Order: sequence, then structure tokens, then C-alpha cells
Amino acid sequence: MTNIEKILVLDFGGQYNQLIARRVRDQHVYAEIVPYNKITTEEIKNRGYAGIIFTGGPNSVFDPASPHFSPDILDAGIPILGICYGCQLIAYMGEGEICPAGEISEYGKTALNIIKDNALFENIPDNSICWMSHTDFVKRVPDGCEIVAKTAHCPCAAFADYSRKIYAVQFHPEVTHTEFGKEIIHNFLFNVCGCVGNWTMAGFTKETVASLKEKLDGKKVLCALSGGVDSTVAAVLLHKAIGDNLTCVFVDHGLLRKNEAETVAHVFGNTFQMNLICVDARQEFLGALAGVTEPEKKRQIIGEKFIRVFEKEAKKIGSVYALVQGTIYPDVIESGAGDADTIKSHHNVGGLPDVVDFEELVEPLRNLFKDEVRKVGLELGIPEKLVFRQPFPGPGLAIRTIGEITEEKLEILRDADAIFTEEVEKSGLSAIANQYFAVITDTRTVGVMGDARTYGYTVALRSVTTDDFMTADWTRIPFEVLATASNRITNEVHGVSRVVYDITSKPPATVEWE
Ligand code: XMP
Repeated sequence: MTNIEKILVLDFGGQYNQLIARRVRDQHVYAEIVPYNKITTEEIKNRGYAGIIFTGGPNSVFDPASPHFSPDILDAGIPILGICYGCQLIAYMGEGEICPAGEISEYGKTALNIIKDNALFENIPDNSICWMSHTDFVKRVPDGCEIVAKTAHCPCAAFADYSRKIYAVQFHPEVTHTEFGKEIIHNFLFNVCGCVGNWTMAGFTKETVASLKEKLDGKKVLCALSGGVDSTVAAVLLHKAIGDNLTCVFVDHGLLRKNEAETVAHVFGNTFQMNLICVDARQEFLGALAGVTEPEKKRQIIGEKFIRVFEKEAKKIGSVYALVQGTIYPDVIESGAGDADTIKSHHNVGGLPDVVDFEELVEPLRNLFKDEVRKVGLELGIPEKLVFRQPFPGPGLAIRTIGEITEEKLEILRDADAIFTEEVEKSGLSAIANQYFAVITDTRTVGVMGDARTYGYTVALRSVTTDDFMTADWTRIPFEVLATASNRITNEVHGVSRVVYDITSKPPATVEWE
């Protein structure tokens, strides 16, 4: 990326690290997250950052095992903004005084009082609301610093060292509950760091296509297409750069939604005129899944089969120079985190690199967040319907079919899902519902239709509202919309005698049922 301004988000383990980077990028300034122990002051200086943001973190600076950074960073001549733990760390490194967790502990929306005008708080009213979450606090600021804001319980809610362009806030400007958080981040970037805001998706698209063209000119490249947003955008970027030298492989595992395989074939084959190989592996997958009821087993079988099917196709094509993957920035960041419990083994065409004979892995989206990927998709002229489609899990309908997977259940599920999706979209709810789908349970119940007894499946409808899919709330879909969906499903889909709506948030439930 030539001449793109960069901000370093130095990560001290805060839960909002990605949010900080996103807020910066929202202002058209590129931000990258690096764990505090994976970079030195020297490297920071050499990489040409316009500014550094120290994130929050769960630790106390008093704990010898807590994350620290070399104090020479404060003299590197690069503007710094410390947030929460990052604020305390700056004070600690500068030999100010921190007060350990005591009676003063602030959590939630808190009245903030700016007591000194400064570049960080330009155009922000003296009194506003901020989001606090801390126990330790800064009692005395380092020499050369001045306290610029306070709250009722925190004598130092923000401080500044004007000459070194170091600012620190005890509250969280990245959280939307901080009334002027966006403005504070804007002020840091533009007033303090002197950024101009040159990170745009139009620029990224143009530059990426040009550099891929240069790098891969005349070489054969292979892409596994899932039909999801990320692999779609990656494939179209590559296609713009190298045209027919790109071959995409799309595997129909028989667990796709209604008309999905046809849509993918149409968009990629006709609209974009790409080299597309559609593999009909329905029997292979469904055969391997016959009789399997255990969720993790289903995922394993699908993951393994996917690799084998792809391998077979790749062999037919022969050796390729590069393999494309739609890896995005959160995947890159999260791949570093290994100790969280595995709730479900997610399958994202993982393992492919081992089975294809190639020299290079091309991941053109590895620095982008999902919303940025969508913007690139629009820049490339990909239909909105594909760009804004909701996420769909790699194992597909297998994990929405509770119990044994049969053709009959899949057929019912596809039809019920299509009706529910149509009703949600027709009523304009897709603006608040981030993922909505049907699930076929393994429970049959008695019903009555006309004068006859029925004994059909129970279909569950699920819709969640979420920012990040890590936590989610169930969508408050109006009763009328649910009623229409329920009526239509029981009337139009043979084999369903009951429809229920899932009103569980995540946690304790997950988004998918399996
Ligand atoms: P859960 O069910 O874990 O889902 O709350 C969170 C988000 O992840 C999607 N999901 C998957 N995506 N492969 C994927 O690519 C998977 O195996 C998988 N399992 C769940 C789910 O649809 C939701 O958006």
C-alpha cells in the first residue's frame, strides 16, 4: 500500500481492540493491531506509523506479569493515545502515580467534565457522557503532563503531554456509549497525528488489482469458491487482475440453500464469465453423512470430504502457481488466540493448502474487516444481493438439520428457510436482523389439517441481531411477520405440522443449533 497513513493499535489484551481499529478505519485512516509483545520500539519507528493507540486490557499495572512496553516508546516522536489500561500504563511508564483498586471503581455511562481545552477534545462540549470500566486510576500524572478531564470519582479522566503529543483517556472512546467518542478519535487522528484520511476502498481496490496483475501475470491461480462474501470478493479481485488464468472451484455438497448452486453458477459463470468448475458432490457428502447425528461428527466428515473433493478437482487442473483464500482481518487476528475453548470446530475450507500443489498463497483481503470487504465488493460491481448476503456456515444445512440428515428433511428445510427469508426481507427487517434462517428439528408432532390428523416435523425459525456474531440477541420480529411465515410454511411445505421461534440469545445459546 503506497503512501497510506497507518496507525498502530498496540494491543494489551483489551476486549475492544478490533473495535478501536475499526473506528480508526471508519475515518479513512488505516489501522493495524499488533500484540504489545510482538513489536519493538525500533520496529515501530521503522514502520512509519502516524500514531499509536495503546488499547485497554484486563490487567493492573501493579501486577509484575501484566503487559508492559518499553518506556522509550514515549520518546519515539510518534503521537500516542492511551485508552484505559493504556492510559494507566503511560502514567506508570512516565513515573506518575497509579492508585490501586480501592473504593473508587467506575463502570458504565459516566459524566465527563473537560477542564482544559486541548487538541484531543476540540469541538467537544465541556460536559458529556463517557463509558468507564476501571478500578485502578491515575492519581498523579507524569512530569510534563497536565490533567485535562475528570469525573465525579476519577480526578484524572484524561491527561496530555502537549510537547510529545501524548494523550491518555481513562474512558473508552471506541465504545458507542461514549457520546463524543468518534469525535475524540477523529481529533487524535487529524489534529494530533496530522492524518489526511487517505484509506479508501476505491483506492484499495485499484491498487490491489494492479499489484496482483503485476505479481501473477501469466500464472495459473486456483480459488475455492464457497459463494460467501469473502471468497466471492477475493475471486472477483483476482479475476479483474488476471482474467482467464484464474480457475474457481465450487463444490455443491448438497447442503446448500434453495437455488444457491444455480445462483453461484449464474453469477460467476455468466455475469463475470469466470472459469468456473461446479462439482456435484451431493451424493458423496450425503452418503458419508448417512446415519450421523452427532454435530461435531457431521462437521468433521464435511471438512474432510471437502478437502478430498477439492483435491480431486485440483489434480485434474494440474499444478497451479497460487491458491487464493478469502481470509479476512479478524481471522488473522483471531488465529493468534489459542486458549479459548472450542465450542464448535468451524470449517472454513481449512487445510486446503496442504493438498494442492502450489507455490504461493494469495490472500488479498487479509487486512480488511468484513464491512470493508463488502465495500470492495461494491467497487467491483458484485450484485448487492451477494455483497450483503448473511453469513452461511461452511457445513451448511447439515448443522441446521437436527438428528440424521435425510433428503426429505433437507427438502423441507430448504423450502421453509426460503419462505422465512422472503418474509423477513419483504418486511424490511434485514436492516436489524443480521442472520435469519430455519432449522428442522428431529421432533415430529401431531397436527390437524382439514379434517385429517398430520404427524409432521417441527421447524424452528431463528433470527439474531448482532455486531460481531460473538454475542447476539434474538431479533424482535413483529408477531405479524412471524404469523405470516408460520402460516405459509405449514401451508406450503409438505411435512411440517408446527413452527416455533427461537427466543434465546448468545450466550447461553449459539447462533446455529449445532
Ligand atoms: P455460532 O453458532 O458459533 O455461530 O454462534 C456464529 C457465526 O458463525 C457461523 N458459523 C460458521 N461459519 N463455518 C463457518 O464458516 C462453521 O462451521 C460455522 N459454524 C457457525 C454462524 O452461521 C454464525 O454466523
